[in-house]
Amino acid sequence: MDDEDLIRWSLREALEAAGLRAVCAGTGKEAIECFERGVDAVLLDYRLPDADGLALLRRMRDIDPDVPVTLLTAFSSVERAVDAMRLGAFDFIAKPFDIDHVVALTAKALETTSLRREVKAMRAREASSLDAIIGDSAPIAELKRVLAKFARSSASTILITGESGTGKDLAARAVHAASPRADAPFQNITCSALPDNLLESELFGHERGAFTGAHALKRGLLELADHGTVFLDEIGEMTPPLQAKLLRFLEERTFRRVGGTTELHPDVRVVAATHRDLAEMVHEGSFREDLFYRLSVLHVHIPPLRERTGDVTLLARSFVGHFARDLGAAVTAISPDAMRELVAYAWPGNVRELRNAIERAVLLAEHDTLEPEDFAHLGAMASSPVAGHGTAPFALPPEGLSLVGLEEDLVRQALERTHGNRTRAARLLGMNRDQIRYRIEKFGLHEVGKPLDADA
Ligand SMILES: Nc1ncnc2c1ncn2[C@@H]1O[C@H](COP(=O)(O)OP(=O)(O)OP(=O)(O)O)[C@@H](O)[C@H]1O
Ligand SMILES: [Mg+2]
Repeated sequence: MDDEDLIRWSLREALEAAGLRAVCAGTGKEAIECFERGVDAVLLDYRLPDADGLALLRRMRDIDPDVPVTLLTAFSSVERAVDAMRLGAFDFIAKPFDIDHVVALTAKALETTSLRREVKAMRAREASSLDAIIGDSAPIAELKRVLAKFARSSASTILITGESGTGKDLAARAVHAASPRADAPFQNITCSALPDNLLESELFGHERGAFTGAHALKRGLLELADHGTVFLDEIGEMTPPLQAKLLRFLEERTFRRVGGTTELHPDVRVVAATHRDLAEMVHEGSFREDLFYRLSVLHVHIPPLRERTGDVTLLARSFVGHFARDLGAAVTAISPDAMRELVAYAWPGNVRELRNAIERAVLLAEHDTLEPEDFAHLGAMASSPVAGHGTAPFALPPEGLSLVGLEEDLVRQALERTHGNRTRAARLLGMNRDQIRYRIEKFGLHEVGKPLDADA
């Protein structure tokens, strides 16, 4: 037994005598393997036959930053200690060390680990619970009440509708987290993201050899989420053949893998979401009526943010807190003027747009209170079709607009910008000269842009 072996042996003895379980690794490679299998704390020698302690520390921090790593070294060098601490070492012990001190420090490290993991689990629970749905408007209070009820019910299907960015995803996760199924898996899939045959395989799985390329058996999400929840996002984009297959599962609670003959009966709750108007789709014939009725038994609708402007303040403040922490920014508040603008804005992208606007403002602001100018970019795309990319579609504001009024205004702007040059103004608007001349006549814009000498 050489020196190093002896040290490892005595450390292990001491740790085990203190009731801790120790695994030993003699090389950096072994150490990383142990670490990846999962440990709660690490005592790491600075010098290993095949690796440098700091490099190992860095790798471990990348793999799992919650596991405290204490460095042991034969040389007590201040610079090393500083380097190690900077890389996130839990502590630093110089050899020769007092073994009781090492044991005590390890016990402390283990406490830190469990505390960190507890906090993380708590955050994860909070992030997906009903409490994560922020808002004190009447519709949100009602939404939370209904979601809590649905979550605890034995309902096997729930439908969530609402415009893009209203929080359907958040609501689906909250229903799962608030249900007795919370400890079982939550599986989600976006129906529009995959072609039909792949979506079918993802959902229902397939047997080995079911089709070319099916080299191995694949379990579908419905199986994988047994006792849990499957979230089908953008259900409105599901094609009619798959709608039929899904309906059969919802009604009979049984299905076969693609290419399979065995009936499987997983216990799953299906939460479906869409921003589309399914009733309208039924009317058009693109969504099965029977599936629509099956899904609509328990239905919650999340109203757009512009219909619950009371929530804007609360959401905005919460996002400021979140991003300031996350981005390490000094922003702490939103000025009353800025808040008034946020409340007045129509939020076509709903809560997602608000969240993004706050993130951007917090990131860019150089003062601690957000002012109206920090939100100057808001709605730039919607109110100015010439901003941004030439191909970007013009977003119709939620409250609608007067097309004729807009047309006149845009022709006027084009003429002003080109100082009355009709050829260039027409080009800005994607028109020919006849088309713009017609509009100049119609709106009486002959004088606009002043120097009429150009090509009037
Ligand atoms: N009431 C809310 N409280 C806190 N955060 C919210 C709320 N509603 C939405 N969010 C946040 O806004 C973002 C968009 O929400 P989400 O992804 O749930 O929308 P969605 O309805 O699923 O949109 P899409 O139809 O585009 O998929 C997310 O970051 C979400 O956490
Ligand atoms: Mg979504």
